[in-house]
Amino acid sequence: MANHSPKNLTVASTGASGAIFLRHFLQALAGDERVETVNFIASDSALRVMAEELDIKGRSNLVSQILGTSAAKSPKTASSKIHLQSNDDIGANVASGSYPSDAMVVIPCSVGTLARIAHGDASHLIERAADVSLKEKRPLVLCVRETPLNKIHIRNMFRAADAGATIFPLIPAFYYHPASLDEMAREFSYRVLAHLGLPQSQAFRWKA
Ligand SMILES: Cc1cc2nc3c(=O)[nH]c(=O)nc-3n(C[C@H](O)[C@H](O)[C@H](O)COP(=O)(O)O)c2cc1C
Repeated sequence: MANHSPKNLTVASTGASGAIFLRHFLQALAGDERVETVNFIASDSALRVMAEELDIKGRSNLVSQILGTSAAKSPKTASSKIHLQSNDDIGANVASGSYPSDAMVVIPCSVGTLARIAHGDASHLIERAADVSLKEKRPLVLCVRETPLNKIHIRNMFRAADAGATIFPLIPAFYYHPASLDEMAREFSYRVLAHLGLPQSQAFRWKA
């Protein structure tokens, strides 16, 4: 997708199931020397789901809580590179097209956030940053998770894709025989990163 490695990424998390995918995605970014800056935004619903799925307690030290053990190994890298932005702050850096974000990923992306992006409802920072990505023709990857899908979801995926987003559903592969949920989520994250121009040397590669 990108013809150069993105250095400055915007990552958003919303209230869909799949917080483990966010954890592995952020861990990979924290450890990737090509990436200099990550602006991270979590909706209130994302926090609710993270509490269920990752046992995260509140917003304090949110990035470290999400990174888990890998933050303990490299706390400086994580805290200096990943900047938490408030979803209520529509005056944050990524709300403006003049800020040089190279790409944006919403992981996981709820169908509610998908709907707001697809309809240009930019009342919170996540949707505003996505709107900016589309208007500036920058990569926008939406890791949508819901099942089954109704026609509204399908229409909204089409609308977003038609406006330039990549619909990258949270659907992992199984042909590499993942031994754990962590391995499954890590490989999925690597696929998203490769799509953005950040291929990971540890990623599984199919050899026929
Ligand atoms: C445990 C839990 C799991 C959920 N899973 C999903 C899901 O997989 N997909 C989805 O679109 N919404 C899911 N929801 C509902 C969303 O969180 C809800 O629609 C919310 O308003 C989305 O807000 P946001 O888009 O601002 O983050 C879930 C909610 C909870 C509490």
